[in-house]
Amino acid sequence: MDLKLKGKTAFISGSTSGIGFATAKLLLQEGVKVIINGRHQKGVSEIVDKLQKLVPDGMVKGIAADFSKSTEVDFLLEELPLVDILINNVGFFTSQSFYEATDEDWYKQIEVNVMSGVRLSRHFLPKMIRSNWGRILFVSSECATLVPSDLIAYSTSKAALLAISRGLSQMTTGTGVTVNTIIPGSTLTEGAISFLNGVAEKENKTRGEVEGEFFRKVRTSSLLERFASVEEIANTITYYSSPLSAATNGAVIKLDGGSMGGII
Ligand SMILES: NC(=O)c1ccc[n+]([C@@H]2O[C@H](COP(=O)([O-])OP(=O)(O)OC[C@H]3O[C@@H](n4cnc5c(N)ncnc54)[C@H](OP(=O)(O)O)[C@@H]3O)[C@@H](O)[C@H]2O)c1
Repeated sequence: MDLKLKGKTAFISGSTSGIGFATAKLLLQEGVKVIINGRHQKGVSEIVDKLQKLVPDGMVKGIAADFSKSTEVDFLLEELPLVDILINNVGFFTSQSFYEATDEDWYKQIEVNVMSGVRLSRHFLPKMIRSNWGRILFVSSECATLVPSDLIAYSTSKAALLAISRGLSQMTTGTGVTVNTIIPGSTLTEGAISFLNGVAEKENKTRGEVEGEFFRKVRTSSLLERFASVEEIANTITYYSSPLSAATNGAVIKLDGGSMGGII
């Protein structure tokens, strides 16, 4: 299938590893010029080199900016060229008791997970509407509706993205711009692998056993009963970044392995 992505330009927030990195690689393979991002210049440069080796014909650049620092976001917005595809991917969680989470803990998760997409979309959406084409994707999480009790702030930030994305999509009426939300379930990133390996070592189990227990005891609603790979998430993000997905706007696309339940 030709996704008709050749020649487009994409910015992916938080893309030196995990889902963002896998998406950057796939978009590059599809002929998209990709701008990646992470907090530190050294890490960003290393990943630009890595992607360049993986996709020798690809056009990849990187801009370091920490989304928890508004001055760095201002710098990023000045540096970024016009993009056709904006993937609001950056996000982090702090697992903690509701009673112990401080205002600061809440603000930081809102700032990075929510305001990153607000600031980038405010910058790019009017330009996309003027050019009559664009794709904005927000990367939420199954936690938006599962709301694990140690992740209330994170889940709140991920639920907020659904309203922002839907609201922005309503501003695209009659144009070639779409705004959608992708909802990954538990995904096997480098971070997840090292967490599972750590638990396995501590409890003298294999990683497979720890993974199995997670789905038997914690993510019991999963129909997939395994972690999704970053490539599985990136495949879907890439499709919804493409012109082929024009009929989907204001939608929530679940890649949760069925964990969120519901019939739509
Ligand atoms: N993994 C999952 O199971 C899962 C499930 C559902 C939803 N999600 C969502 O999917 C998205 C990607 O998650 P992931 O697990 O793939 O992430 P990840 O592997 O933890 O990677 C995080 C990326 O974000 C960058 N980053 C972190 N904080 C940043 C900040 N303040 N400013 C700029 N960049 C920052 C990191 O770069 P540096 O370290 O180089 O700064 C890295 O490139 C997130 O929004 C997450 O909430 C993930």
